[in-house]
Amino acid sequence: MFAIAIDGPAGAGKSSAAKLAAKKLGFIYVDTGALYRTVGLYMTEHGISAQDVKAVEAALKEITVELKFLPDGQHVFLGEEDVSDKIRTPQISMAASAFSSIPEVRSFLFDLQVSMAEKYNVLMDGRDIGTVVLPHAQVKIFLTASAEERARRRCLELEQKGQKVSYDEILADIQQRDYQDSHREIAPLVPAADAEIVDTSDCGLEEAVERILTIVYKKLPNDSVDFPG
Ligand code: DC
Repeated sequence: MFAIAIDGPAGAGKSSAAKLAAKKLGFIYVDTGALYRTVGLYMTEHGISAQDVKAVEAALKEITVELKFLPDGQHVFLGEEDVSDKIRTPQISMAASAFSSIPEVRSFLFDLQVSMAEKYNVLMDGRDIGTVVLPHAQVKIFLTASAEERARRRCLELEQKGQKVSYDEILADIQQRDYQDSHREIAPLVPAADAEIVDTSDCGLEEAVERILTIVYKKLPNDSVDFPG
């Protein structure tokens, strides 16, 4: 199997660019943030605090998180419920970030991520894919952009979904999440030593996809143009 790891901070355009690049390559796109968001959603709905590690551990024994790849892309299930839309709110973004610093949460989601890469050619995006989850990925990319540009994009995205947003709040959330994600003890957000850095502050989605594909094509074996998904 061939694996592409794309890591980077919140709102760098990872998911949009990664989704399109995966489609062009015929790879399965795995959005690992959705897994952490699903855990964050469950904990929030059940009033469990990220400070209460014992309660978090007990809750993890109760839940199943599953990814399904439907014709319109990845869907994430919490038990029987498709929570793919419910997890896309600023509140759940913060919860995902808070709960993702708990080692038990990371190990709970680890096997699921690794098993995807064993079954499929994947393009997986997250924070620690190139460093921890798929350290042997053939391609590693660290996709980033300035915090201000990322906040601007996140505002647009949420507005398009009909959510009312404040730029200042989104920027503050992004800065706080950057700090939390890159300062946590376990699997912090850092580029892998062998990752290529792609800064998308100055470019649109199409160019970001082009830059990703250029890096991938350099690493794809010559005889493997037709990858099964
Ligand atoms: O990519 P995202 O914004 O949907 O991720 C939500 C949060 O989940 C993010 O702030 C940190 C956490 N996360 C993580 O710790 N490791 C990953 N591989 C993906 C996400």
